Amino acid sequence: MQRRFLAFTALATLILGLSCGPKLNPNEIRIGEYGSLTGAQATFGVSTQNGIQLAVDEANAAGGVNGKTLKVIAYDDQGEGSEVAVVVTKLITEDKVQVILGEVASSLSLAAAPICQDHKIPMISPSSTDPKVTQKGDYIFRVCFIDPFQGRVMADFAMDQLKAKSAAILRDQKSDYSMGLADFFIKRFQERKGAIVSDQSYVAGDVDFKSQLTIIRGQKPDVIFVPGYYGDVGLIVKQARELGIKVPLLGGDGWDSSKLYEIGGEALDGCYFSSHYSPESTDPKVQDFVKRYQAKFGQVPDALATLGYDAAGVLVAALKSAKSLDGADIRDAIAATKDYPGVTGSISLDADRNAVKPAVVLKISGGKASYVTTINP
Ligand code: PHE
Repeated sequence: MQRRFLAFTALATLILGLSCGPKLNPNEIRIGEYGSLTGAQATFGVSTQNGIQLAVDEANAAGGVNGKTLKVIAYDDQGEGSEVAVVVTKLITEDKVQVILGEVASSLSLAAAPICQDHKIPMISPSSTDPKVTQKGDYIFRVCFIDPFQGRVMADFAMDQLKAKSAAILRDQKSDYSMGLADFFIKRFQERKGAIVSDQSYVAGDVDFKSQLTIIRGQKPDVIFVPGYYGDVGLIVKQARELGIKVPLLGGDGWDSSKLYEIGGEALDGCYFSSHYSPESTDPKVQDFVKRYQAKFGQVPDALATLGYDAAGVLVAALKSAKSLDGADIRDAIAATKDYPGVTGSISLDADRNAVKPAVVLKISGGKASYVTTINP
């Protein structure tokens, strides 16, 4: 009697489970994506999504992965940490994705990583550079360099190329990326006997930066390092020029957006930032990608689009070699990534699940950024 009852409940649970869950197509591999498709960092999410879409469309056109089609399920997190938790949980528990791509902003990747780690769903961030992101666990990867390197690149560039002996900092105090990158820049600059004459902060979304900039102006730095995102940076650079500050402002990858030039205008002339790639590269692989991307989206791909493309490319290669589509096997395959020929450079993942790659420095003039130099790790 009891046995029969147990068998009955097992069967009922099975039927219920099958009928309540989403209809999963066994011929599809489900990839989750979360990003800022709207909000203050919307170009980050949109560019990344374009890059991922191009890579996935190309992979599907080439026959998919071992006979299966790739399906991307994407949600907008609006650039908000609270939204990230909601959509990433939904991707995992409702959409049953097998792997996740995202985010751009390090603070948002940091919000998602523990959720992915707990559910043993591998996550690849295309472009989050804060070291803490992949430290969240062994299911968390990235295909870009990290900020100890990026901070060093800009400190060295300021000292070697711009002959700077002093620098001021203006950082976003609520952003893990901005806080970390500022610290890494300062560390290197001071190690090389440069002077940090002022260290000021703001909060993303502020519109008036004049009091911080006035203090900085009083210290007469040779350069000002502003490791923020394009929306705030555009205003900061404009207001710096309005206050008569003439020295170059420098930044990191967070400056990369077509919107930066709309906001900052010609105030940006003579400023520099580090990035992951330059569309001006003569490398045929880069030029070929730029052409395919432009044909599809009518724009030159920014670094986010290119890193989105490479993150999806690394994932497709890993899915092809994974022993099975279980989280642990996908994780092992991603971890084994070696010499993947990305558009942003050759990608090998180290023991900490980070890519070790060169950075480029770009100079802004006339509303666009041009290639200056490449700095190797
Ligand atoms: N590296 C930034 C972060 O970690 C995100 C970013 C990457 C922004 C590339 C623009 C371009 O927050």
